[in-house]
Amino acid sequence: MAIDDTIRRSTGAAPRTRLGQAPAPELLDPAERMGVDELRALQLERLRWSLEHAYTNVPFYKRTFDEAGVHPSDLKELADLRHFPHTTKADLRDHYPFGMFAVPQERVSRIHASSGTTGRPTVVGYTKDDIDAWATVVARSIRAAGGRPGHKVHVAYGYGLFTGGLGAHYGAEKLGCTVIPASGGQTAKQVQLIQDFRPEIIMVTPSYMLTLLDEFERQGVDPRTTSLRVGIFGAEPWTEQMRQEIEERFDLHAVDIYGLSEVMGPGVANECVETKDGLHVWEDHFLPEILDPVTHEVLPDGEYGELAFTSLTKQAMPVIRYRTRDLTTLRPGTARPMRRMDKVTGRSDDMIILRGVNVFPTQIEEIVLGLDGLAPHFQLVLTREGRLDRMAVRVEARPETTGAQRTELAQRITATVKDRVGVSVTVDVVDPEGIERSVGKFRRIIDQRPR
Ligand code: DLL
Repeated sequence: MAIDDTIRRSTGAAPRTRLGQAPAPELLDPAERMGVDELRALQLERLRWSLEHAYTNVPFYKRTFDEAGVHPSDLKELADLRHFPHTTKADLRDHYPFGMFAVPQERVSRIHASSGTTGRPTVVGYTKDDIDAWATVVARSIRAAGGRPGHKVHVAYGYGLFTGGLGAHYGAEKLGCTVIPASGGQTAKQVQLIQDFRPEIIMVTPSYMLTLLDEFERQGVDPRTTSLRVGIFGAEPWTEQMRQEIEERFDLHAVDIYGLSEVMGPGVANECVETKDGLHVWEDHFLPEILDPVTHEVLPDGEYGELAFTSLTKQAMPVIRYRTRDLTTLRPGTARPMRRMDKVTGRSDDMIILRGVNVFPTQIEEIVLGLDGLAPHFQLVLTREGRLDRMAVRVEARPETTGAQRTELAQRITATVKDRVGVSVTVDVVDPEGIERSVGKFRRIIDQRPR
């Protein structure tokens, strides 16, 4: 039997029938009902406006367009965007805090910032119209996930400068839901609130959902009996194996939401619950491109590369060809006319290069979550011995796993990683609760290599 078959856990979850339906067509936004040609025409009109707006009002864009010898009036069709220069996170940092804003400060009604692990945060701003557009795409995302007016939405993304909490909040309100602004942390209280308030929907990082799962079990509550029927998970990469784990353990629909502060926040793209076949990019507001990670040339749809976005409606801080560093593939629309992006399996800056082999934490997640006897908690520890980088997988045993089984599981992980990913790793199967728990975005990689 192939190793894949021996390690894959059997599924057999009960069907989650409630709240898994497509919305009736009359509930959709006009853009969600457009034909592709109509959508492209709308994008072209908005792209012209956005390029002009950025060029006229942000000195950085005037300079980079001029240096590249392009002018907004050169854009005759959508494909002409490839002649315009890219924007990177470093460009935003260089203009800290407000140098990329295109409107006077009195028109900026909200500021957010992404922390970044080193150096200055990246600051973003929104006008009132931007906040409204953002709420519209998040409302659309929640509806695509199965949410409807009147549902209670428990928001456990952090509130504050991070866009997760407030972004989810305004979207849920706009859809007509009742918002429970729990924010992150205070895990025991969150579990209590979920039992008392009985929300149908939860919005949270997938890693914090696992922390909540432990807490339900610690309190003696079967997570499958809660009121939750839909989970809208994002802000960090997660795999199909993680979807299966969460759907089975909670008996809900796990749907992916994607976004980034520089482009807006959560709600740039979202899966439809009835298809779960990738995330529809809300293309009436955000124009995606896939770039070759090395040359940065545009790749055709269907190819894997770095995702870049151009905002089409943003007033306070337009972004032109912003390089996200997220790696994915664009595919044609299915449940909606907008193109889909595959689940983001990693960021180019999360990629570990181990003795010449590229490794993403999601590849390890797929293997770990496919094995019985292990809890879905793991971290990757990087060290250096002499000139050689080493990676240790630290993963948690389930309480019932015996010592002999742990040894066998460690050997299996080592063999499977070698077989599928092509690198040698050591594996440490630690005691239950041996791995720290996430309260927001989880720190998957612990890099102990000397700088
Ligand atoms: O994480 C916005 C967000 C909040 C998205 C809540 C979804 C839910 P940033 O803090 O700026 O914004 O981080 C953006 O997080 O470039 C990706 O690398 C990663 N990311 C976000 N959503 C997903 C996802 C928010 N669904 C960065 N899958 C992005 C994989 C994701 N990675």
